[in-house]
Amino acid sequence: MKLSLALAVLSAVVSVNGHGYLTIPSSRTRLGSESKLDTCPECTILEPVSAWPNLTAAPVGRSGPCGYNARVSIDYNYPATNWGNTPVVSYTAGSTVDVQWCVDNNGDHGGMFSYRICQNQTLVDKFLTPGYIPTEAEKQQAENCFEAGTLPCTDVTGQTCGYNPDCTAGQACWRNDWFTCNAFQADSRRACQGVDGNTLGSCYTTIAGGYTVTKKIKIPNFNSAHTLLSFRWNSFQTGQVYLSCADIAITGGSGGTPPASSSSKTSTAAATTLQTSTKASSSSISTTSTTSAAAATTTPATCTPATTVAVTFKELAATTYGQTIKVVGSIAQLGSWTTSAATALSASQYTAASPLWAQTISLPAGTTFQYKFIKVAADGSVAWESDPNRSYTVPSGCDTAVTIGTTSWR
Ligand SMILES: *[C@@H]1O[C@H](CO)[C@@H](O)[C@H](O)[C@H]1NC(C)=O
Ligand SMILES: *[C@@H]1O[C@H](CO)[C@@H](O)[C@H](O)[C@H]1NC(C)=O
Ligand SMILES: *[C@@H]1O[C@H](CO)[C@@H](O)[C@H](O)[C@H]1NC(C)=O
Repeated sequence: MKLSLALAVLSAVVSVNGHGYLTIPSSRTRLGSESKLDTCPECTILEPVSAWPNLTAAPVGRSGPCGYNARVSIDYNYPATNWGNTPVVSYTAGSTVDVQWCVDNNGDHGGMFSYRICQNQTLVDKFLTPGYIPTEAEKQQAENCFEAGTLPCTDVTGQTCGYNPDCTAGQACWRNDWFTCNAFQADSRRACQGVDGNTLGSCYTTIAGGYTVTKKIKIPNFNSAHTLLSFRWNSFQTGQVYLSCADIAITGGSGGTPPASSSSKTSTAAATTLQTSTKASSSSISTTSTTSAAAATTTPATCTPATTVAVTFKELAATTYGQTIKVVGSIAQLGSWTTSAATALSASQYTAASPLWAQTISLPAGTTFQYKFIKVAADGSVAWESDPNRSYTVPSGCDTAVTIGTTSWR
């Protein structure tokens, strides 16, 4: 009876998919979105899942513990240029930290979500090796390890757990149709507004705007110079599984692999950035969470430092047909002063009254560089702006997107 009712609900909503992904710490999916390669970060879906309603029993398939986004054909289970090569944050073993995922307003479809860490470095290393694509068997093996490494809600002192992923069948706290937040059909504070009570658009999704869902997890007591935090959401009503993962380091624990000398650099760098990033982000709602700061340690009011920042250049420059404004500068991302490697700005907002050229480029946090705009004619000839060089330092705080104040051709 219950099952048929649930199936009726399922078929009624089956065309409306749930959608969500890990945002804090920055998951590979989030980095894919911020680098503009992934045009729908909330669309990394394992489906169809025949194991419904017990989605845990579903083979993870090509989705693996980090997710495969079929819409844009991106497999997040191996490192690429914009993700997976270094930890985005270094956590202290045993500390309690804030984590967050983003659910699209179109689809909080119940079920349960969990955060998992696999402590078997041999299995995890398959997902950290540049140029190596894990097999489906390796994805499943790792997935089993992640599932076994589900971080218990009840490990966090004071956290309200209710129904939670560390419960098993038969326990009072176990349910298969758990709602992640408030029930989706509630009159007010519907769906995931019920968790953070945050505003629509408080995190970035492409379909209907996102709501943040913040929880605390306790980092296990072991060391790893580079491992993964995997997020899994079993979406009950739509019979889908959402997977994403973030590259993290864990220090100060006992056991595991202590940071090797080369990679300890990475962790130290991450930790250092962390200390400087106390700014609570409150500006952009497009790609940045507006409320919840991600604590990387138990220290309050910290947040996840951005490793790359989407920097928007805006230059007012009157041009004639065939001319393009480009930006060139002292760092590789800006062509290392080679005009043929300069990045073109877009004239999509250009009007006669406001001849605006604009472009957003993903740059490493904390980098200081010099640059100039150039005017490139249809025949390739280049006109430079006059001296001096412009200069800018990419912030190394929590902001993942900044705009340099509009400048004018000189
Ligand atoms: C769901 O499937 C998993 C994996 O096969 C299994 O361990 C678990 O016992 C199942 N849960 C229920 C309630 O059947
Ligand atoms: C890690 O996984 C591999 C592959 O399944 C296994 O051979 C090894 O024993 C595991 N290591 C530990 C410490 O469990
Ligand atoms: C601007 O940068 C270029 C490349 O580093 C350098 O050759 C040039 O002297 C700089 N211009 C000024 C005015 O500093």
